[in-house]
Amino acid sequence: MQGTATYDLSGKIAVLTGAAGGFGQAIRNRLAASGATVVLWDLEGALVGADLSGFPTHAVDVAKPDSVAAAAADLRRRFGRCDILINNAGIVGEVRPTWEIPLDEFHRIIDVNLNGVFHVCRELVPLMIDSAAATRFGRIVNVASIQAKEGMAQAAAYSAAKAGVVALTKSLGKELATANIMVNAITPAASLTAMSIDAPKERLADILSRIPMKRFLEPAEVAAMVTWLCSPECSFSTGAVFDLSGGRATY
Ligand SMILES: NC(=O)c1ccc[n+]([C@@H]2O[C@H](COP(=O)([O-])OP(=O)(O)OC[C@H]3O[C@@H](n4cnc5c(N)ncnc54)[C@H](O)[C@@H]3O)[C@@H](O)[C@H]2O)c1
Repeated sequence: MQGTATYDLSGKIAVLTGAAGGFGQAIRNRLAASGATVVLWDLEGALVGADLSGFPTHAVDVAKPDSVAAAAADLRRRFGRCDILINNAGIVGEVRPTWEIPLDEFHRIIDVNLNGVFHVCRELVPLMIDSAAATRFGRIVNVASIQAKEGMAQAAAYSAAKAGVVALTKSLGKELATANIMVNAITPAASLTAMSIDAPKERLADILSRIPMKRFLEPAEVAAMVTWLCSPECSFSTGAVFDLSGGRATY
């Protein structure tokens, strides 16, 4: 399942976090096919050895403000602008009942999935405001999860973090509404990327049983929606949440 629609994103500089992962790979290829220069941000260990075929990269840990600041400084030096930001880095963390999640683990999951989005926005939004002042164009897409809407047993930290991403998106969308920068979130259901593929079979079967379309989401479907949200075609939607759940969520 690989869509072919392209948009004119030539000359646009896009930062994609979690770029070496399953969704990241599909998103970077789709944005590049539309002409964007996609700068790949991911953990050093994830970038090393990955086939990133000539994309510009920067090792970054989104959970660490200093690491994000260094990556943003590098982006300013190399490109001097930022038109598109996709906050896609994420981890599920340990699958356990809420009251059994170790303190450090809860904080780690929030640090990557929620604080990471804040750290990256804090560094890049001022640059994006400057860029959009000249071009009247900016797009931010935050990758949340169906779990932000529904919660999920044994994933309280992840669900809470993703719900936080949705609320952050709504706030930032309002703040940037007159800056020509659209800010939206997507809420995907399960897809068989590295993040989920090793989940216990019974858990995957349970998740699948909740999806009315009776199949998992394909990364290419995520990339199609993200690319549209990054395009000039998406011109009157901001602070919004776009569903990708095969009918699981109807709100
Ligand atoms: N796969 C699913 O079922 C699913 C469903 C809903 C939402 N999501 C979300 O989609 C996004 C992408 O997930 P994916 O399915 O491609 O998983 P993935 O595991 O294939 O990719 C995640 C990427 O994030 C990177 N990452 C993790 N911690 C990081 C950090 N501290 N700093 C920088 N990068 C870091 C990883 O190295 C990896 O490349 C995540 O935010 C995830 O929560 C995934």
